[in-house]
Amino acid sequence: LPYSFSPLCHKRNSSTTTSSPVQDKLIIFDTTLRDGEQSPGVTLTVDEKVEIARHLSNLGVDIVEAGFPIASQGDFEAVARIAKEIGPLMTGREKIGKPMRIAGLSRATEKDIKRCYEAVSQAPLHRIHTFLATSDIHLKYKLQISREECIKRAAKAVAYAKSLCEDVEFSTEDSGRSDRDFLCLILGEVIKAGATTLNIPDTVGYTTPEEYGALIKYLVENTPGSDKVIWSTHCHNDLGLATANTLSGITNGARQVEVTINGIGERAGNTSLEEVVMAIQTHPKFYPVYHTINTPLIYRTSTLVSSLSGMPVQPNKAIVGTNAFLHESGIHQDGVLKHKQTYEIIRPEDVGIFNVNIVLGKLSGRNAFRSRLVDLGYGNLNDNEFQQAFESFKTLADSKKRITDHDILALISDQVSKG
Ligand code: KIV
Ligand code: ZN
Repeated sequence: LPYSFSPLCHKRNSSTTTSSPVQDKLIIFDTTLRDGEQSPGVTLTVDEKVEIARHLSNLGVDIVEAGFPIASQGDFEAVARIAKEIGPLMTGREKIGKPMRIAGLSRATEKDIKRCYEAVSQAPLHRIHTFLATSDIHLKYKLQISREECIKRAAKAVAYAKSLCEDVEFSTEDSGRSDRDFLCLILGEVIKAGATTLNIPDTVGYTTPEEYGALIKYLVENTPGSDKVIWSTHCHNDLGLATANTLSGITNGARQVEVTINGIGERAGNTSLEEVVMAIQTHPKFYPVYHTINTPLIYRTSTLVSSLSGMPVQPNKAIVGTNAFLHESGIHQDGVLKHKQTYEIIRPEDVGIFNVNIVLGKLSGRNAFRSRLVDLGYGNLNDNEFQQAFESFKTLADSKKRITDHDILALISDQVSKG
């Protein structure tokens, strides 16, 4: 197992903080291609999913959930291709020296798990992620099974997954509304059956930060065998609390976070990768963890996901919204001109936003356009491709006052699809 590692051993002495001498590695599990794709109206082609996975690998994501292989032939192909083509790549991970782990989702049945394994197993590092609901409301109305049956099914599924794959994650769906002691029971059983990561989804975004943090703490302290596994957060944003809940989970012992780019996902979405990463980076004293994300690639990954998924990023979205680093009021502009930190807590270039002050429009020249292409990851166009892109840009600029990064990505992908 050349790339196997125990995340429990991922500790380092912090060189950046004095108050937290030992920091654990925070595992970034990205589910843009699975939970993110469950956003209403989003469907990505297999090629688009592979392209997003390549960007996630460059970004330094630790684990990507590439899809739900049993869901459709297209999902199976996407996961299998990502496992085969992106799974072996070291890109973006030189510091760590291992590629991104590829995971697939499966319900707690042998058929699902087998299909999932067929899709992910071509990657050097892979994971089976299986789940079962645990709240009484789901057991009674959706699954129509007892708690005892729920435990039996979960343990059986995990044992089967473990017979195929060393790395098995189990999620207790709707944990946020589940009975804590029942969660301890079922989680203790799946640890015995071989689960290596336990994920605690707040599936309907119901909890508050205090409540979610307390839940993680209770489970970590009261589940038999708890110290053998990685605890993971998975928060939905129905109350706008997904990032806050995730951070509270970290404070209380979680060392994996499940996130999506731009926070896309079912209903109001999932916790956004960029918010969690920049929050722990901005506040190293509050969070006893470090990440290995290449943060200057955040913005270009965000624009790619937005343009391929067709889900615009709201302008005032934290970290990646077009307004996130713009200063409108005179007082703020004056402050920033005197010293950037008067009104900026993050340097835009740290998340890959350059040239925030240059607005592209019909008067912009080649250099400004080229420089924006470089920022967006298209610095390698040949002369002919560049010329065509520039001409399309000028045509568009005649009918639109301000050309956004999304417009540029749209015209580049148009050009690529025309060959
Ligand atoms: O929100 C949820 O419960 C999920 C699980 C399937 C992990 O996405
Ligand atoms: Zn979810």
